[in-house]
Amino acid sequence: MGVKLGKKVWLSGKLISSSAARIGFANATLQYGFGAFEGIRAYETATGKTALFRLREHCRRLKASWNALGMKLPYSLAEIERAVKATVKANRLNEGYIRPLLFLEGLSFNPLQGTPQLMIGCWDWNDFFGGHKGAGLHMTLLPFRRMLGGQRMHNTKISGSYYVSLMARGMAARQGFQDALFSDSKGNVAEGTGDNVFLVKNKALITPPAKEILAGITRESVMEIAKKTGYRVQEKCIRPKDLLHADEAFVTGTAAEIEPIIRVDGHWIGNGKEGPITRALRGRFALIVRGKEPAYRHWLTFLK
Ligand SMILES: Cc1ncc(COP(=O)(O)O)c(C=O)c1O
Repeated sequence: MGVKLGKKVWLSGKLISSSAARIGFANATLQYGFGAFEGIRAYETATGKTALFRLREHCRRLKASWNALGMKLPYSLAEIERAVKATVKANRLNEGYIRPLLFLEGLSFNPLQGTPQLMIGCWDWNDFFGGHKGAGLHMTLLPFRRMLGGQRMHNTKISGSYYVSLMARGMAARQGFQDALFSDSKGNVAEGTGDNVFLVKNKALITPPAKEILAGITRESVMEIAKKTGYRVQEKCIRPKDLLHADEAFVTGTAAEIEPIIRVDGHWIGNGKEGPITRALRGRFALIVRGKEPAYRHWLTFLK
């Protein structure tokens, strides 16, 4: 199952046909991974209007990732938000995934001599885990980290750093797993290749602290929803054995949404099925993103 890009992409101020959107050899993002990207979801809401989930937070993170590379945004945040909305509209996408990418044209090794560009594409993406959405994930725990080095870069979406995620996905897929979990520097469970991890033990939610992970926007949303629903939520280190003995476990992410983990390296989690707390949170989240919970309407940006 592949991903099919929508018909139009937004490139440097214009909506053009996706097949015409080509980048040249002289491109520091292609050559060195010197780029920043985001993943945003659009949902069809109860009134039939499409809304973008936490658009402002995603655009802010895009800026933070680009700034972490020492670069200034070529557009204002408001302009980027407008461009994202225009891309979704131009593709008549009712629900789907949007990918803004800041890239750098030029071959110079000095990024200040390059030309920053913004491209935005979108597509229908319901198979982030192959055909397993809703069925529960089989995952493998890898003994290495997603990001080496420090400098808080773990909390950015910088193109070049994602080779490790794709490599891990490939390793997992070859062994029949849908995703892999990375370890942190101490050997604790850190996060998935493009998602965060939670476990449920004695009705409390536990997720690794933000120190060595990309502390996702979905993770933060789920923590808030869970707390307001009355669950205890703790950010604390998860040892591999805590995960294996959890009552339930799940991942969160923009592409992943909320997905139960039912097996890790041959060990069933809980009773090997989606647990009741995961199911309740997943159901609640589905209502919130579709505008059916007024208390969370401020997380949505509606398209006119
Ligand atoms: C490594 C990694 N962890 C976690 C996440 C989840 O973040 P979010 O919920 O903001 O999509 C992502 C996706 O962006 C990711 O790439």
